[in-house]
Amino acid sequence: MSFHNLLISDADGIRTITINRPEKLNALNRKTLTELAAAMQAAADDDSVRVIVMTGAGDKAFVAGADIGEIREQSAIQARRFAAYGQQLMSSIQHLEKPVIAAINGFALGGGMELALACHLRIAADSARLGLPEIKLGIMPGFGGTQRLLRLVGTTRALEITLTGEPISAARAAKLGIVNSVVSTDELTPAVTAMATRLAAQAPEAVRGILQAIQRGAETDLETGLALETARFALCCATEDMQEGTSAFLEKRKPMFRGR
Ligand code: COA
Repeated sequence: MSFHNLLISDADGIRTITINRPEKLNALNRKTLTELAAAMQAAADDDSVRVIVMTGAGDKAFVAGADIGEIREQSAIQARRFAAYGQQLMSSIQHLEKPVIAAINGFALGGGMELALACHLRIAADSARLGLPEIKLGIMPGFGGTQRLLRLVGTTRALEITLTGEPISAARAAKLGIVNSVVSTDELTPAVTAMATRLAAQAPEAVRGILQAIQRGAETDLETGLALETARFALCCATEDMQEGTSAFLEKRKPMFRGR
């Protein structure tokens, strides 16, 4: 699998996807979006991949947004198609049945913050800055940012961040619950690898069940969410991994989950 604007590497069940346009601060042009969609599908289809890490090349940016040069050239009809494509990609990441961790190594702005918001967990370097600055360009977020940020932080803060367009520090993002944790730049890769390694060792059916119950549960009423939880719980109990996990506990040893 080789891409023009992405780097892909695999280690111990962890697939790292690095957006690789450092000279443009990893801005998401159309080619990069198309490649990202293909890379996510490939990761979803590959049973050896248990966890995905998403990051940006270079030491300055995770992703500095959608490509402003391309946005400028679009008609309203093309812009509608572009936003729909970006939204679809972000939703496919959110609903992937494997955990996706954003390693936010610098600017995560506009489409970059929207990409991070579509991931399941976010770990940021203390130098990172996150924001939805589209308003400064006379536009607004179009890859799901208004909706995902609203759901994470509530109306008051979502309005402040989108209406001012001012980026916030990683520390403030952690305080608002936008990122899970903040570490020094040097610690980012070890911290993300430690989290990814931990998740890669979990039973895949339980991981899928939790991802679905929480992602879908956030968008539905309690009764529907509970029904989903019941069904997914039952499915976990049909796996060899459930036998392994419960046996390992009773035998006082570490479980070895095989995804069966
Ligand atoms: N789209 C296209 N190109 C972008 C980009 C984007 N979203 N963000 C950065 N770049 C390009 C710059 O045009 C520049 O290219 P050049 O060297 O050919 O001129 C290169 O990346 C480096 O960026 P630069 O602005 O020189 O770096 P900086 O350190 O001075 O500033 C930022 C960094 C992130 C503050 C600044 O690049 C920025 O504001 N980017 C746009 C953020 C944004 O509005 N995103 C939402 C888009 S919808």
